[in-house]
Amino acid sequence: MITLDVALGDRSYPIYIGSNLLGQTELLKKHLGGSEVLVVSNETVAPLYLDKLMASLEGCRAESVILPDGEKYKTLDVLNNVFTALLEKRMGRQTTIVALGGGVIGDMAGFAAACYQRGVPFVQVPTTLLAQVDSSVGGKTAVNHPAGKNMIGAFYQPKCVIADTAVLNTLDDRQLSAGIAEIIKYGLIRDEGFLLWLEENVEALVGRDTDALVYAIEKSCINKAEVVAADEHEHGQRALLNLGHTFGHAIETAMGYGEWLHGEAVAAGMYMAADLSARLGWLTKTDVARLEKLLRRANLPVKGPSISIEKMKDLMAVDKKVQDGQIRLVLLKAIGEAVVTDDFDAALLDQTLEQCQV
Ligand code: NAD
Ligand code: GLY
Repeated sequence: MITLDVALGDRSYPIYIGSNLLGQTELLKKHLGGSEVLVVSNETVAPLYLDKLMASLEGCRAESVILPDGEKYKTLDVLNNVFTALLEKRMGRQTTIVALGGGVIGDMAGFAAACYQRGVPFVQVPTTLLAQVDSSVGGKTAVNHPAGKNMIGAFYQPKCVIADTAVLNTLDDRQLSAGIAEIIKYGLIRDEGFLLWLEENVEALVGRDTDALVYAIEKSCINKAEVVAADEHEHGQRALLNLGHTFGHAIETAMGYGEWLHGEAVAAGMYMAADLSARLGWLTKTDVARLEKLLRRANLPVKGPSISIEKMKDLMAVDKKVQDGQIRLVLLKAIGEAVVTDDFDAALLDQTLEQCQV
C-alpha cells in the first residue's frame, strides 16, 4: 500500500492507494469520528461493494443510503435524500459520512457532510479511476444546477481517502478512459515528465495493467496534493487544475448532464485550450498534435459536440473563474506550464470553438 499526505496543517489527511483495501477494517475505522457511520453509495456501486465495506465496519452502527446513479441526479433534490436518511435514523454529530462511489457520489456525500449539523466527519472511498486520481482529493464538494455545473457546493476536506485499485476491475472501458483524461491533465499543466511517461504507457493504462494504474494514480495524487496544499481554496494555482473545464462544463451542461462523461468533456476541453493556446502563439502545432495523439490513444474525444458558438460562450460565462463578468481560461504557455488568463482575443476563442467541434 502507498500512503500519501495532503498537507493542510491540522486538517491534513492520508491517501491510501493499493489493492483490496476495502475490506481492511482498521484502515477505515481509525478515521471515524465516532461509532456511527452513514455510507452514501448508488444503485450500481452498492450491489458490488457495499457489503464488503459494511463488513469492515463491524462493531459500528453502520447505515447506508443508496442514491440513483448518474450525473443527472447530482442535484439538491437528490442530496436531500441523504439528509432525510440522517435525520430519520437519528444520526448524531459524530456520524462519519463515507462516500462509496465515483465523483458524483463523492461530491454529493462530501457536500452533505459539510452541511449536516454544520459539518460531520467525512471519508472518501473512490471507486472510479477519475475519482481516485482527482475528485476524492482536495475537498471540493458540490451539486449541479440546471444552469451550471458544480455551482452549489463547499470546500470540505475528508479525513482520509481509500483508493482500492481492485474495484477498478468492474469499471467499464469508457469510464476508465474518462479517468485517464484527468491524469493527462496533470502532465499538461505541471508535470511534463509525467506526460512523457503517459506517452510511453497509455496503452498499458487502457489495458488495465496494474503497475501502470498504481503509478498513474500515485503521480496524479502527488500532483493534486501539492496544488491543494499550496492553495486549498483556489485563490491562485489551484485554478490550473481546471484545464479544459470551462469548455468541458459548458459541453456537459449543453448536452444534458450525463450524455458526455465529465472526463470526455474535459478531454475535448483540454484540446480546445491547447488549440487556443496555439492560436495565441504559445503552443506549437506540434504540441497540439502531440496532445491529439495521446487523447486518441486513450480513446478520448478531441472534438466537442456540435453546439453554437453563442451557446458555448453563454455557458462558459457560468464558471467559478469568471471575474467581473470576464471569462478567464486555463491555457498553456507550454506543455507542462499552465496559466489562468482573460487576456485573449475573443475572435481567436470563436475560431477555436468553431474548429474544435464535430
Ligand atoms: P460517476 O461518479 O458518475 O461514476 C461513473 C459511473 O461508474 C457511474 O455509473 C458509477 O455508478 C459507476 N461506477 C463507479 N464505480 C464503479 C465500479 N468500481 N465498478 C463499476 N461501476 C462503477 O463519474 P466519475 O467520472 O467518477 O465522476 C465525475 C464527477 O466528478 C462529476 O460530477 C465531476 O464534476 C466530479 N468531479 C469532481 C472533482 C472534485 O474535485 N471534487 C474533480 C473532478 C470531477
Ligand atoms: N478538480 C479541480 C480541483 O479539485 O480543484
